[in-house]
Amino acid sequence: MKKKELDWEKLGFDYREIDKRYVANYSDGKWENGTLSSKSDIVINESAGVLQYCQQVFEGLKAFTTKDGSIVTFRPDLNAERMMDSAEVLQIPPFPKEKFLEAVDLVVEANAEWVPPYGTGAALYLRPFIFASKPVISIEPAEGYQFRLFGTPVGPYFKGGVNPLTLCVSEYDRAAPRGTGNIKAGLNYAMSLRAHIEAHENGFDENMYLDAETRTFVEETGGANFIFVTKDKEIVTPKSETILPSITKRSILYIAENRLGLKVSERPVKFEELEEFAECGVCGTAAVISPVGKVVNEDKEITFPSGMEEMGEVTKKLYDTLTQIQLGDIEAPEGWIRKI
Ligand code: PLP
Ligand code: COI
Repeated sequence: MKKKELDWEKLGFDYREIDKRYVANYSDGKWENGTLSSKSDIVINESAGVLQYCQQVFEGLKAFTTKDGSIVTFRPDLNAERMMDSAEVLQIPPFPKEKFLEAVDLVVEANAEWVPPYGTGAALYLRPFIFASKPVISIEPAEGYQFRLFGTPVGPYFKGGVNPLTLCVSEYDRAAPRGTGNIKAGLNYAMSLRAHIEAHENGFDENMYLDAETRTFVEETGGANFIFVTKDKEIVTPKSETILPSITKRSILYIAENRLGLKVSERPVKFEELEEFAECGVCGTAAVISPVGKVVNEDKEITFPSGMEEMGEVTKKLYDTLTQIQLGDIEAPEGWIRKI
C-alpha cells in the first residue's frame, strides 16, 4: 500500500486534516445509516446542545500498519462499549456497537495512505465523538445528534518521547465524587485546561490529580491512568469510581499477569505510598506507556528509583509487549486486534 509523503518519525500529537470521515445523524428517535464525507467543517445552529450545555462524548483509539503491510485497530469494541456508557450519563442516544465498528473500518480503509508505515512509531489516531446538534435553550437533552469519526496521524503524545516525565500534584480537582470523572466527555477536559496550562507554566509535563473528597488518594492525569511498580515487581494501579476506565490500563494488567507472570493489584493508592514504589508510568491510547520520573507536591519531591534518564525495567517490558501486540509482532490475546 502506498503511503502519503510525510516525515512520519517527526509527527507530534497534532490535528492534521485527512481525506475522509464518517458522519451519521440521529433524529426522530433513531440513528440513520452513516456515510463517508470529505467535509471537515460542521455547520450547526447557534443554540445547539453541544454549544450551550456541552452535551458531547468522545473516544480515542489507534490504527497501525503491521510488518506485512496490513492495517489493524486495537480493541475498538471496548471503545464502542465505553462510548455507550458515556452517552448514557449525558443523556445522549447510544451509538450502536456494530455501527461504531463499521465506522472505524470505513474510515481507516478510506484513509489507508494516512496510516503511518510500520516501524515509524506513529499511528493513525481515531477520534469518534457524538454531539448534540439540535437547539436547546432550557436545560434538557437535545432532540438531534451527530456521530462523527475522523482520523489524524500522530506521533508521541509527550514531546520528550520516552524521557521520564515530571508531574505536579494539581491543586484543582479533576472529578467530583459521584460526578462524570469515569466517562469520556469533553466537559471533563475543558475544566482541566487551567490546571494543564498552570502545570506547563510551572515547568511540569502533566498533573497528577488526587481524589476530590479526601485529597489523599491518587486518581489519574488529565489524559491517562497511572501504573506503579513495587520493589517486588508487582503492578499496582489506582481503583477509583472517578477515573476513566482506561482500555490501555486494562490491557496492561492482562499482559502483566498473563504474559509476564507479574502480580497485579487494582486498589486505592494513597499519595503517601508513592515513596515506596520503584517505577511509575502513565498509560492511555495517546500516552501509550510514558514513564514518570518525578512527582512534586508543594514542597515534597518524589523521584522514583527508576530515575529521570530511562524507563524503569518493568515499565519497559510492559511497553514492549503492548506495542508488539498492537503492531502484530507477537500474538495478541483473542479478540484484541481487528484487521481492516
Ligand atoms: N484517563 C483519561 C482522563 C483519558 O482521557 C484517557 C484517554 O483516553 C485515559 C485515561 C486512557 O484511556 P485509554 O487507555 O482507553 O485510551
Ligand atoms: C486518548 O488517549 O485517546 C485521549 O483521549 C487522551 C487525550 C488525547 C484526550
